Amino acid sequence: MIITIDGPAGSGKSTTAQGVAERLQFVYLDTGAMYRAVALGFLQADADVTVEAAQHVLPSIEVDVRYQADGRMQVVLNEEDVSEKIRTPEVGAVVSQISTLRPVRDRLVREQRRIGFEQEERHGGVILDGRDTGTVVFPEADLKVFMMADVDERARRRYQEYTEEGKDISLEAVRQEIRDRDQRDRNREIAPLRRADDAVSLDTTEKTIDEQIAFVVDRVKAHRKSGT
Ligand code: DC
Repeated sequence: MIITIDGPAGSGKSTTAQGVAERLQFVYLDTGAMYRAVALGFLQADADVTVEAAQHVLPSIEVDVRYQADGRMQVVLNEEDVSEKIRTPEVGAVVSQISTLRPVRDRLVREQRRIGFEQEERHGGVILDGRDTGTVVFPEADLKVFMMADVDERARRRYQEYTEEGKDISLEAVRQEIRDRDQRDRNREIAPLRRADDAVSLDTTEKTIDEQIAFVVDRVKAHRKSGT
């Protein structure tokens, strides 16, 4: 079974997807982490954000994911575990521009489909989150969820994450980062962030994480019962 969760930054996708994966013993694939790893590769290579630069630099960027025994996903860039390094405001600032490049998207969509099928075969279920997982990566997914939340609430959540990790950034800067990213993710030419026609919507502004997880788990159960 393949489940996709799409939505803007800070809408609660990854926490929900991880919680659902844990409850159902599914594998979690964070597609944003793969875009972040490529973005880190661009930063390390000091490459420009252009299609030409992407064609030049992509062959030397190897992105892979690995799963630990407890199910946690690691992102690997050229054999190095970069799961922590990709969570910086510096990567956050460039990733949505890099993810507009066709060669980057083509490569990662192909990889995501490959990993999705492989893990589904092994574990029976995969839950992906991102911006285009229900529209482009797995348009044939069994269940699609589109999550959203008020921008102030999303900024507050992301700010809290950064502060917990000891990163020095103001709430206003985080709000601006989220606004800019929303704008770019929704308006880009290739695979823009949008709700798939057959996705169920979930507004998480006033929801707890447990409620969000329960919402998706209930729909998975309903889907299994309907046998479709
Ligand atoms: O989910 P995230 O904030 O870690 O994603 C980082 C960026 O990657 C986001 O700004 C847009 C891009 N992205 C994408 O274009 N398509 C996806 N499926 C996932 C992420």
